[in-house]
Amino acid sequence: MSDISDPRNDPHGKYNGNEIVYVSQVLDSANYRTQEPFTVRFEQAFAKRFGMDFAIAHNSGTTTLLSCLAAAGVGMGDEVICPAQAVLMNAATILYQNAVPVIADIDGETLNIDPADIEKKITNRTKAIFVVHMHGLPADMDPIMAIAEKHGITVIEDTAQCVLGTYKGRLAGTMGHMASFSMESKKHLSTGEGGMVLTNDEHFGTVVRKTAFNGYRAMTAGKPLRQLLPEQFQDPDYERHDTLGLNFRMNEVTAAVGLAQLERIDQIVGRRQQVAEYFMDAISSCDWMVPQKVPDDYVNSYYTFTARYKGKQAIGASWKDFYNKYKAMGGDGFYAGLKVVYSEPMMREKVFLKSGYLPPDQGPEGDRFAYEQGMCPVAEEAQPEMMSFKTNYRDMETAKQQAGILGDLIKDLDK
Ligand SMILES: Cc1ncc(COP(=O)(O)O)c(C=O)c1O
Repeated sequence: MSDISDPRNDPHGKYNGNEIVYVSQVLDSANYRTQEPFTVRFEQAFAKRFGMDFAIAHNSGTTTLLSCLAAAGVGMGDEVICPAQAVLMNAATILYQNAVPVIADIDGETLNIDPADIEKKITNRTKAIFVVHMHGLPADMDPIMAIAEKHGITVIEDTAQCVLGTYKGRLAGTMGHMASFSMESKKHLSTGEGGMVLTNDEHFGTVVRKTAFNGYRAMTAGKPLRQLLPEQFQDPDYERHDTLGLNFRMNEVTAAVGLAQLERIDQIVGRRQQVAEYFMDAISSCDWMVPQKVPDDYVNSYYTFTARYKGKQAIGASWKDFYNKYKAMGGDGFYAGLKVVYSEPMMREKVFLKSGYLPPDQGPEGDRFAYEQGMCPVAEEAQPEMMSFKTNYRDMETAKQQAGILGDLIKDLDK
């Protein structure tokens, strides 16, 4: 048999904690049925780390969004507000619930959803708000929660990019009515694929769990497993399902990796914040690279280090020129801002209307999917300027070197 190297020996490895130990325990059949399932351990540890009552493990950070919408009671023709510059999954899951995505603009400095625009977009059909904490920075939650309370609307924090980011001392993911996390491979806490929902509300938690577990009647927010005796369910009259749900469950191997990652989450996030500092230093002397603003009393967990590039006006180099020069100097490259949600073909061309996910009644006000350029001018202006540098370098020397290349390029262009 060939030697299998032990990931714990790689000082720069992503999975060099207890991941291999826990996964081996899952695969050891002697433990089967005797040990506490890793999904339960992971959920409990996750809830505890965030100081929340309920954590419900999922197979992705997209299915978590769907479960949260279901728990919020979002259905046919309801409206859900989501930010203009964010991942498409928010709008897509709203459409899967037969509801209408209503797009709110962002703040041009923090690059997060603008509470003032949320307020403008509220109607008597608004059922929920997706607050997406972008690039690692929490959104301005206090005014959002005040607006939600005034109108009786559920707030779902999409915390996929903001693990351990804080807002006025509170952790992202603990301020809304429910919060969704993703654990796909680029996220702070990564299990390859995976997701988690957090909530303090037992009703929401129960519906989330049932939505993710095929709608089993016996499930509750805190209990993923059967709580019935075999005599109760080994019965021809036993009724199993009282909720519409699919299978969004996390598996044991994934949960084992997740638990080990959670044990080191402060260190993992700290490394990203350190990398962001290198990039911040590299652009500090430059007034045509404007980093995402971190207001006082916020902590950015730096999923990426994101800045607005103003070099076209200032030094005559386009976004793409700058990108090519950075690459030519040995830079890794960087990401552009995601297209404004309504500019993606799926939304722009209303592709979803063909898949049957739509309210059949578009309402007396006519087309409720009238997404047009100019709707969210701040996001439209910011998006083509955005540059997101990755922060998940395994070793700090490489990160320093990359930030150094950025600094050198800026000095070169500024001459
Ligand atoms: C903000 C945000 N929400 C949701 C998702 C979807 O998560 P997943 O890829 O785990 O389905 C992502 C992942 O890219 C994300 O960044």
